[in-house]
Amino acid sequence: MNKWQIKDLQGVGDVELSLDDSKRVFVLFGTNGVGKTKILGAIGFFLSLKLPNSIINTTRFKLNAKSFELVSCNTEYLDHKHHSEVEDFIIKETDEKIKRILYKPELLKTIKQDIDAICYIATYSRLDKDDSGKKSRNSYLEHVGSPQHDIKKWIISKAQSTNPYQKEHKVRKNEIECLLEVLNKFDDRIKDSLTIDFNNNVYLEIDGKERELSELSSGFRSIVRIFQAIISAYSYYQEDTDNLLAVKGIVLIDEIENHLHLEWQVKIIPTLKKLFPNTTFYIATHSPLVLSQLEEGEAYLLKRDEDGVVRSQVINSPNTRLLENVLPEAFDIDLNELKRQNMENIDQTKVQQKLLKLLNG
Ligand SMILES: Nc1ncnc2c1ncn2[C@@H]1O[C@H](COP(=O)(O)OP(=O)(O)O)[C@@H](O)[C@H]1O
Ligand SMILES: [Mg+2]
Repeated sequence: MNKWQIKDLQGVGDVELSLDDSKRVFVLFGTNGVGKTKILGAIGFFLSLKLPNSIINTTRFKLNAKSFELVSCNTEYLDHKHHSEVEDFIIKETDEKIKRILYKPELLKTIKQDIDAICYIATYSRLDKDDSGKKSRNSYLEHVGSPQHDIKKWIISKAQSTNPYQKEHKVRKNEIECLLEVLNKFDDRIKDSLTIDFNNNVYLEIDGKERELSELSSGFRSIVRIFQAIISAYSYYQEDTDNLLAVKGIVLIDEIENHLHLEWQVKIIPTLKKLFPNTTFYIATHSPLVLSQLEEGEAYLLKRDEDGVVRSQVINSPNTRLLENVLPEAFDIDLNELKRQNMENIDQTKVQQKLLKLLNG
């Protein structure tokens, strides 16, 4: 089991997650306020400490004037050869306004799997046309995990750095090609080419029409942002790799369904899994359609137990059961029962009408 124990997470309290360590997709469900966003932030924060050139390691910046303290860590974390039942580590978010991060470096050495890159994609970063200057609770993580927020600026800078007359031939596919390739694989209406005009407007070809980036619908913008965030973070951390898609990274995505058309909600996770075969995903969502495509061990409901601790419960085989049979477990919604009630009501009305007819002769 991939176990997480988080102590005193701000606004949430204690958290215990038991995730199936044979999986590399973990999707968290749960009512508003249960702590999904904060938990993604804590996991991302901890894992980012493990990066070879983590910004946190070198600059020790503050986290909204709060500091994390890693209290303990079990040696087996992320080592898939071991199946430790003991808690893996504890992250404590302290209340004191200490403007540095407290952690014991020896704790990190005990994490066996090396992570080559990390990417955190917050909800707001996909909503706004221009998100520069916006801050969120996990903004430090966005900084760590996805250095370039502005898709347009990123594309232009990457395009400028690719010089066709350059003598040295770059083996590696450049980031833009990579982005276009994954977008096209995700939805083949998005053509795998783009153009930039003299005013630095960037055009994608969607459904046979040229569309400027800022004119994209929020759904298209959101999907471009998800893929761009991963690719820009991976290329930032792994400059020398010749295959960005194969990087061994961690991707955290909050409210993945935001703005996505239903058809895209259905295929987003299976596609991400296929396109990034060495990535581990931690995702939060409310979408039953995202849930419907998850394998056993990939979907978890977060619930606050009677002792006040927020714990994870696996949601059983979402992709092999009828959705209406999974909904009660995941969302406390029993469509079958509601349907039965509706039918009964209809039956009763029919009976009443018949009786009335009889009575009225
Ligand atoms: N900076 C903060 N200070 C105090 N409470 C917070 C802070 N951030 C979040 N919370 C609280 O933590 C709880 C979990 O929030 P969040 O992780 O956003 O929930 P979810 O994403 O599951 O809807 C909420 O009750 C929220 O009000
Ligand atoms: Mg949230």
